[in-house]
Amino acid sequence: MSKPLLCPPELFNLDLSGQTYIVTGGNSGIGLVTVKQLAKQGAQVVLACRRIDEGELKAKELKSRGLRGEIEVSELDLADLSSVRSFAKRFLENHSALHGLVNNAGVMNTPFQRTKDGFEMQLGTNHLGHYLLTELLLPLLKKSVPSRVVCVSSCFHDKAMGREGYIDFEDLNFEKRKYDGWVAYGQSKLANLLHARQLAKRLAGTGVTTASVHPGWVRTNLIHQTMPLWIQNKLLRPLFRMGGMIEPWEGAQTTLYALLAPEVSSQSGAFFSQTGIYRNRKAKKGGWPLSSPNPQAHDDAIAEKLDQVSRQLVGFG
Ligand SMILES: NC(=O)c1ccc[n+]([C@@H]2O[C@H](COP(=O)([O-])OP(=O)(O)OC[C@H]3O[C@@H](n4cnc5c(N)ncnc54)[C@H](OP(=O)(O)O)[C@@H]3O)[C@@H](O)[C@H]2O)c1
Repeated sequence: MSKPLLCPPELFNLDLSGQTYIVTGGNSGIGLVTVKQLAKQGAQVVLACRRIDEGELKAKELKSRGLRGEIEVSELDLADLSSVRSFAKRFLENHSALHGLVNNAGVMNTPFQRTKDGFEMQLGTNHLGHYLLTELLLPLLKKSVPSRVVCVSSCFHDKAMGREGYIDFEDLNFEKRKYDGWVAYGQSKLANLLHARQLAKRLAGTGVTTASVHPGWVRTNLIHQTMPLWIQNKLLRPLFRMGGMIEPWEGAQTTLYALLAPEVSSQSGAFFSQTGIYRNRKAKKGGWPLSSPNPQAHDDAIAEKLDQVSRQLVGFG
């Protein structure tokens, strides 16, 4: 099994004081490590999460380690567009700059559920909530250039447990087709990649850089709808590690690279990937950046349509 890609050490020596970041789903897994690293380097970080008590607890633990930066906890439920609007309003009232938005929060392979606004849960949480959040914060991101938006996608945008990733514009919310939790996850993760790609086009020349990432197969809570966490974390952990599962600090490397590496600003819209389960062998090794093997990930018409449809669905503009 190939080793995970790691950031060059100098990236973690950058002084981020005076920089402000938002990390969604910052209370757990990859998001939590991202918050910690940014605060360690002196940044002001907003840990956005739906369970505020849990967020406060995690922030307290991090602060007790004497990080140079500041961590602020703010409530955000991406499965409820009114919560997304309230979060953005609060942020804009209290902050005059935003240098990086990390659209990290996500759910995987959920049973069929709808968000508060009636969207299928995985598309609604992973993509549509983040789409609205990004739109609401774009004016400030533009004012704060150079700034970045990183969308955490997955190699499952290509193939999720054997199902090819595609956007079904005829039935985005599984009202006509039979629900499949992996098909829905793949659709939402392809939407994350296309979101970053189309946003890069819209923002060309503004100084806002966008990227999408596949963090690797990471030992986090994400799998809890598929198997009990103790099976991943105890029973099968050595086996999974041998099979390529990595730890959260390794899983946060791709996000931090996309967010901080200077060379990424000339690659806006690109996809950065750890090793992953892709349809072709070459892609399996990952790459910073990587050309996705999924043809839909390169389709301008699909990216533009998704942008328009998402805008309509979230009632923006
Ligand atoms: N782990 C992997 O192998 C892997 C592979 C590819 C891609 N990813 C992607 O990596 C990202 C981070 O996941 P992770 O692996 O770090 O898993 P995780 O530990 O489960 O973290 C997911 C985070 O998203 C939050 N979240 C879920 N629904 C939300 C909602 N409605 N509103 C706000 N926050 C919500 C969770 O909050 P709660 O703590 O309240 O549930 C949690 O903080 C996800 O986008 C995932 O798709 C992960």
